[in-house]
Parts: sequence; structure tokens; C-alpha cells
Amino acid sequence: MAEVDLAALRRNAARIRAAVGPGVAVYGVVKADGYGHGAVLIASVLEPLVDGLAVSLVEEGLELRDAGVAKPILVLGAYYDHYHSEVLEEGLTPVVYDAGEFERFGRAPVRREPRRSKVGRKGEILRRWPVHVKVDTGMNRLGLDLGAVPGLGDVARRFPHLAVDGLCTHLASADMPSPDDTLAQLARFTQAIVAARAHGMHPSIVHAANSAGAVRFPEARFSAIRPGLALYGAMPSPTVAWADLEPVLSLRTRIMALHKVACGGGVSYGGRWRAPRDAIVATLPVGYADGYPRHVEGAEVLVRGKRAKIVGAVCMDMMMVDVTDIPGTAVGDDVVLIGRCGDESIRADDLARWAGTISYEILCGVSKRVPRIYRGGGHA
Ligand SMILES: Cc1ncc(COP(=O)(O)O)c(C=O)c1O
Repeated sequence: MAEVDLAALRRNAARIRAAVGPGVAVYGVVKADGYGHGAVLIASVLEPLVDGLAVSLVEEGLELRDAGVAKPILVLGAYYDHYHSEVLEEGLTPVVYDAGEFERFGRAPVRREPRRSKVGRKGEILRRWPVHVKVDTGMNRLGLDLGAVPGLGDVARRFPHLAVDGLCTHLASADMPSPDDTLAQLARFTQAIVAARAHGMHPSIVHAANSAGAVRFPEARFSAIRPGLALYGAMPSPTVAWADLEPVLSLRTRIMALHKVACGGGVSYGGRWRAPRDAIVATLPVGYADGYPRHVEGAEVLVRGKRAKIVGAVCMDMMMVDVTDIPGTAVGDDVVLIGRCGDESIRADDLARWAGTISYEILCGVSKRVPRIYRGGGHA
């Protein structure tokens, strides 16, 4: 069972806001089903606390609109295929990353009024659909080259119903020990801002920072930030610390069986773990089909407030832990895989370390068959 603490989510959002100050807008990133927490509920809780939300796919944005989310929704990384009209009609804000894509948005018939219209200088109603333009400043993943910004300005002038409200980039290394790559990206982004303004684009929402960028580089905050992981109380690497963020998700189960394993007996597929002494091994009904990583090294769970090591291969639906040193352990006991129990706690970051991955993958990987229980905010 995954327990999602919505009160912790609210506190995290408030702490992030307080840290960056009132002049910086916050776009809460809820892609990948809200990093595995459930996008619709997470978005509905965040909506009053943020300036906008951000997703990766058009479908993710539509899911939020269908659920009644009214705030701006940025579509960060979409391949728009032939859905340009729908994106604009549903009031999603596309991030556009090349001139051809801008042109396709410009030519797309739009059969609905924009969500917000402006009144022009002569009192006329200006119908304008917001777009953000993405510049690649060094990640080499998505975005215009610096040299293509002027050309995009020319294309944008041909489609005055599209308003370039935002200019953005993405930081590749804000969580790395050395700040050098990030500072170089920020310098290139500053040049892009100058070039955009010089070529007729006047974006008011300028954004570059993910969680690590927002916490470590105040100069990366510009007029908006796009935190994801920090909202969920995890951090991308040990280099990054944002004091007081609380994990939002915990993962719990119960012991389903106990076995006495004689010294030398093998546990799980391939018998790769052999009991070094007579042992008591507990079986848990959680496996890699639930999103628990199969390859973990030295991983632990919490049983009766104590740490117990995972032994043998993690199976699809089950895994085993050595509870020899936890007296009184019984079938039905609660087990914490991520979360707190007594004085001990295991964070998604710990599990990521044991699995040789990052906490993003752990959180997004909690699978559909794991029931989500929401607490802390009228969403029981
Ligand atoms: C373009 C973009 N912006 C912001 C984020 C949020 O990043 P983080 O979860 O590190 O805060 C992501 C996530 O990968 C992203 O791809």
C-alpha cells in the first residue's frame, strides 16, 4: 500500500514558495502521474498553492483539465503529433521547441475561445493563445539552438494570435557537485532572453530551474521555477539539500509468511542468498511488479521499528527479509519499505541508492496495482 500524505505535500509547496520569495512563480510538476503519487489528486491539492502545473504529455494535461484543474498547465516535453488544435482548444500551454512546431500551432484551426483574452489599446478584444518557447542551452535534448531564436521571432510575428508568454530552458547538471555546467547554461540562457527580446518576443514567464536549480542557484529562478521532486519531499542527489522537505509517499506492507531456514539453506530464485546461520525469514507480498527494484544491494525494510535486510532475489510478487534478530516478529506485522517506523526511516533516496538508481525512478515506478491511500486533507 502506498500512503500519500497530502498535508506534507502542502507544507513542501509552502516551504518552496517561501524559499524563492513572492516574485517567483511556481509551476508544480505533476508529470508521470504526479511522480507516481496520482496526478489528479496531487494537482487538485497543489492548484491553490501554485501559479500553474506542468506535465510532459498532452494526455497528461487533458487528464487534469477533465478533472477540473483550471490553472495554466504547461506541456513540457510533448511530441505534439497532429494534436495542435486540441492543445490550444483545451487551454494547455505548449512548450514549443522548434520553428516548424510553432508554425504548426500557428496554422492549427482553433474552434474555441482562449481561456483568457486581453483588451487591446483601442478597447478591442485580443484573442491570444499562450505558448512558451524552449531553448537548448547545453542539455542537447530539446529546444532551439541559440542561433535559431531570431528566426523563431520572425515566425512568431506571422502568427500574432499565439502569444510567446514564456521562454524556458532545462538544466542538465544542477544537482552535480560542480556548478560550472549550470553556470554556462545560465549564461547561454541569458543570451537567449536578450535575443528573444531583440526579435519581438517579450515573454513575462522566464524559467529554467528544476528542484536542484531552484535550491542551489538563486540566479536560475528568473521569474518562475518548475519543481517536481522537491514537492514530493525527495532530492535528486546528495549534493542538493532543501531543509525540512517531507517525504509525501510511504510504502507499507505486511508479513505474509515466516520460515525457519537452516544454516546454509538458500532463499529465493537461484538460492543466491544462503543463510549464514539458522535464520528466520519473512515473506512480504511485494515484488518488482509493484515497482520495488529487483536489483538491490544491502536494501533494508523496517519491522517493529528495526532494520531488516532483504535476502535473496526480489521476485515478481514477493520478497524475503531476514528477521532473525527481531524477536516476536509475527505474520501480519506491518513492514515499512519507504517511510518511518519509530525512530527509523527509509527514504526513496535510500532505496534509490540500494538499487543504483535515482529517487525519481523509485517514485514513478510504484505500479498501478499498489493501492494508494490519501491522507491529510479531506481526501481520505
Ligand atoms: C523540463 C522539466 N522541467 C522540470 C522538471 C522537474 O524536475 P525536478 O523533479 O528535478 O524538480 C523536469 C523533470 O524531469 C523536466 O523534465
